[in-house]
Amino acid sequence: VADPIETLTALFDQEGRQAYFGERVSVSVHMLQAAALAEAAGAPDHLVAAALLHDVGHLRVVASMQTDVGDDHHEDVAATWLAAWFGPEVTQPIRLHVAAKRYLCSTESDYFSRLSAASVESLRRQGGAMSPAEVEKFRGQPYAVDAVAVRRWDDAAKDPTRATPEFAYFRLVLDRLQLPSRRA
Ligand SMILES: [Fe+2]
Repeated sequence: VADPIETLTALFDQEGRQAYFGERVSVSVHMLQAAALAEAAGAPDHLVAAALLHDVGHLRVVASMQTDVGDDHHEDVAATWLAAWFGPEVTQPIRLHVAAKRYLCSTESDYFSRLSAASVESLRRQGGAMSPAEVEKFRGQPYAVDAVAVRRWDDAAKDPTRATPEFAYFRLVLDRLQLPSRRA
Protein backbone atom coordinates (compact mmCIF):
# COMPACT_ATOMS: atom_id res chain seq x y z
CA VAL A 1 0.00 0.00 0.00
CA ALA A 2 1.41 3.40 -0.97
CA ASP A 3 2.03 5.81 1.86
CA PRO A 4 -0.98 8.13 1.89
CA ILE A 5 0.94 11.16 3.11
CA GLU A 6 3.56 10.82 0.36
CA THR A 7 0.93 10.20 -2.30
CA LEU A 8 -1.22 13.13 -1.20
CA THR A 9 1.77 15.46 -0.81
CA ALA A 10 2.79 14.73 -4.41
CA LEU A 11 -0.77 15.30 -5.64
CA PHE A 12 -0.95 18.68 -3.87
CA ASP A 13 2.50 19.73 -5.14
CA GLN A 14 1.99 18.62 -8.74
CA GLU A 15 -1.49 18.21 -10.29
CA GLY A 16 -2.98 20.45 -7.59
CA ARG A 17 -0.99 23.49 -8.68
CA GLN A 18 -3.10 23.88 -11.78
CA ALA A 19 -5.95 26.35 -12.04
CA TYR A 20 -9.30 25.31 -10.64
CA PHE A 21 -11.76 25.77 -13.52
CA GLY A 22 -12.86 29.36 -13.50
CA GLU A 23 -11.76 30.05 -9.91
CA ARG A 24 -8.94 32.44 -8.96
CA VAL A 25 -7.05 29.90 -6.83
CA SER A 26 -5.44 26.56 -7.70
CA VAL A 27 -7.12 23.32 -6.66
CA SER A 28 -4.46 22.84 -3.96
CA VAL A 29 -4.87 26.34 -2.52
CA HIS A 30 -8.65 25.88 -2.62
CA MET A 31 -8.52 22.66 -0.60
CA LEU A 32 -5.91 24.02 1.83
CA GLN A 33 -8.10 27.07 2.47
CA ALA A 34 -11.13 24.83 3.04
CA ALA A 35 -9.16 22.82 5.61
CA ALA A 36 -7.92 25.99 7.31
CA LEU A 37 -11.51 27.25 7.58
CA ALA A 38 -12.61 23.91 9.04
CA GLU A 39 -9.81 24.02 11.59
CA ALA A 40 -10.59 27.65 12.49
CA ALA A 41 -14.21 26.62 13.07
CA GLY A 42 -13.04 24.01 15.57
CA ALA A 43 -14.03 21.07 13.38
CA PRO A 44 -12.95 17.55 14.43
CA ASP A 45 -9.98 15.96 12.61
CA HIS A 46 -12.13 13.88 10.25
CA LEU A 47 -13.89 17.00 8.92
CA VAL A 48 -10.66 18.98 8.58
CA ALA A 49 -9.41 16.02 6.52
CA ALA A 50 -12.62 15.91 4.47
CA ALA A 51 -12.31 19.63 3.71
CA LEU A 52 -8.62 19.19 2.88
CA LEU A 53 -9.27 16.35 0.43
CA HIS A 54 -12.76 17.10 -0.91
CA ASP A 55 -11.63 17.94 -4.47
CA VAL A 56 -8.81 15.44 -4.99
CA GLY A 57 -11.24 13.79 -7.41
CA HIS A 58 -10.61 16.66 -9.82
CA LEU A 59 -6.89 15.84 -9.68
CA ARG A 60 -7.44 12.11 -10.01
CA VAL A 61 -9.65 12.68 -13.05
CA VAL A 62 -6.89 14.78 -14.61
CA ALA A 63 -4.20 12.28 -13.61
CA SER A 64 -6.07 9.45 -15.32
CA MET A 65 -6.45 11.59 -18.48
CA GLN A 66 -10.21 11.52 -18.49
CA THR A 67 -11.57 14.39 -20.51
CA ASP A 68 -15.25 14.16 -19.75
CA VAL A 69 -16.89 17.43 -20.75
CA GLY A 70 -19.99 16.68 -18.68
CA ASP A 71 -20.18 16.14 -14.92
CA ASP A 72 -16.90 14.52 -13.84
CA HIS A 73 -18.46 12.99 -10.68
CA HIS A 74 -15.28 14.06 -8.88
CA GLU A 75 -16.94 13.53 -5.50
CA ASP A 76 -17.34 9.79 -6.20
CA VAL A 77 -13.85 9.50 -7.67
CA ALA A 78 -12.37 11.07 -4.53
CA ALA A 79 -14.43 9.10 -2.01
CA THR A 80 -13.73 5.78 -3.71
CA TRP A 81 -10.01 6.44 -4.06
CA LEU A 82 -9.61 7.73 -0.48
CA ALA A 83 -11.48 4.76 1.02
CA ALA A 84 -8.20 2.81 0.92
CA TRP A 85 -6.95 5.04 3.74
CA PHE A 86 -9.91 6.78 5.37
CA GLY A 87 -13.15 5.74 6.98
CA PRO A 88 -16.65 6.89 6.00
CA GLU A 89 -16.46 9.82 8.44
CA VAL A 90 -13.96 11.32 5.97
CA THR A 91 -15.10 9.89 2.64
CA GLN A 92 -18.88 10.26 2.96
CA PRO A 93 -18.93 14.05 3.53
CA ILE A 94 -16.67 14.23 0.44
CA ARG A 95 -19.00 11.98 -1.56
CA LEU A 96 -21.95 14.18 -0.59
CA HIS A 97 -20.38 17.63 -1.02
CA VAL A 98 -21.87 18.16 -4.48
CA ALA A 99 -25.27 16.91 -3.30
CA ALA A 100 -24.91 19.36 -0.39
CA LYS A 101 -24.62 22.24 -2.86
CA ARG A 102 -27.78 21.10 -4.65
CA TYR A 103 -29.45 20.72 -1.22
CA LEU A 104 -28.50 24.22 -0.05
CA CYS A 105 -29.73 25.72 -3.32
CA SER A 106 -33.18 24.32 -2.49
CA THR A 107 -33.28 25.04 1.23
CA GLU A 108 -31.48 28.35 1.75
CA SER A 109 -32.90 31.36 -0.06
CA ASP A 110 -29.69 33.35 -0.55
CA TYR A 111 -27.31 30.42 -1.04
CA PHE A 112 -27.44 30.30 -4.84
CA SER A 113 -26.71 34.03 -5.13
CA ARG A 114 -23.47 33.56 -3.18
CA LEU A 115 -22.05 30.79 -5.38
CA SER A 116 -19.08 31.55 -7.62
CA ALA A 117 -19.75 31.73 -11.36
CA ALA A 118 -17.88 28.47 -11.92
CA SER A 119 -19.92 26.78 -9.20
CA VAL A 120 -23.16 27.97 -10.80
CA GLU A 121 -21.96 26.58 -14.12
CA SER A 122 -21.12 23.16 -12.65
CA LEU A 123 -24.44 23.10 -10.75
CA ARG A 124 -26.29 22.83 -14.03
CA ARG A 125 -24.29 19.73 -15.02
CA GLN A 126 -24.73 18.28 -11.54
CA GLY A 127 -28.52 18.31 -11.75
CA GLY A 128 -29.44 21.77 -10.40
CA ALA A 129 -31.28 22.46 -7.16
CA MET A 130 -32.84 19.44 -5.43
CA SER A 131 -36.52 18.61 -5.69
CA PRO A 132 -38.45 18.33 -2.39
CA ALA A 133 -38.19 14.53 -2.63
CA GLU A 134 -34.43 14.74 -3.14
CA VAL A 135 -34.14 17.12 -0.16
CA GLU A 136 -35.93 14.59 2.07
CA LYS A 137 -33.71 11.75 0.84
CA PHE A 138 -30.55 13.81 1.35
CA ARG A 139 -31.52 14.71 4.92
CA GLY A 140 -32.00 11.03 5.74
CA GLN A 141 -28.47 10.05 4.79
CA PRO A 142 -25.69 9.57 7.33
CA TYR A 143 -23.10 12.36 7.15
CA ALA A 144 -25.52 14.79 5.47
CA VAL A 145 -24.89 17.43 8.16
CA ASP A 146 -21.12 16.94 7.85
CA ALA A 147 -21.37 17.24 4.07
CA VAL A 148 -23.16 20.59 4.41
CA ALA A 149 -20.41 21.80 6.76
CA VAL A 150 -17.72 20.78 4.26
CA ARG A 151 -19.70 22.49 1.50
CA ARG A 152 -19.72 25.81 3.36
CA TRP A 153 -15.92 25.71 3.85
CA ASP A 154 -15.61 24.69 0.19
CA ASP A 155 -17.61 27.70 -0.98
CA ALA A 156 -15.60 30.10 1.20
CA ALA A 157 -12.22 28.72 0.10
CA LYS A 158 -11.67 30.60 -3.16
CA ASP A 159 -9.92 33.76 -1.97
CA PRO A 160 -6.64 34.56 -3.79
CA THR A 161 -5.72 37.18 -1.17
CA ARG A 162 -5.91 34.90 1.86
CA ALA A 163 -2.73 33.43 3.37
CA THR A 164 -2.84 29.67 2.94
CA PRO A 165 -1.02 26.99 4.97
CA GLU A 166 1.11 24.37 3.20
CA PHE A 167 -0.05 20.76 2.93
CA ALA A 168 2.59 19.77 5.49
CA TYR A 169 0.72 21.85 8.08
CA PHE A 170 -2.13 19.30 8.03
CA ARG A 171 0.06 16.18 8.28
CA LEU A 172 -0.55 16.02 12.01
CA VAL A 173 -4.31 15.94 11.46
CA LEU A 174 -3.94 13.09 8.94
CA ASP A 175 -1.54 11.22 11.25
CA ARG A 176 -4.06 11.38 14.07
CA LEU A 177 -6.60 9.67 11.81
CA GLN A 178 -4.44 6.50 11.90
CA LEU A 179 -4.14 5.85 8.20
CA PRO A 180 -3.77 2.09 7.48
CA SER A 181 -0.26 2.06 6.00
CA ARG A 182 1.08 4.28 8.80
CA ARG A 183 -0.06 2.16 11.72
CA ALA A 184 2.78 0.53 13.62
FE1 LIG B 1 -14.30 22.51 -3.72
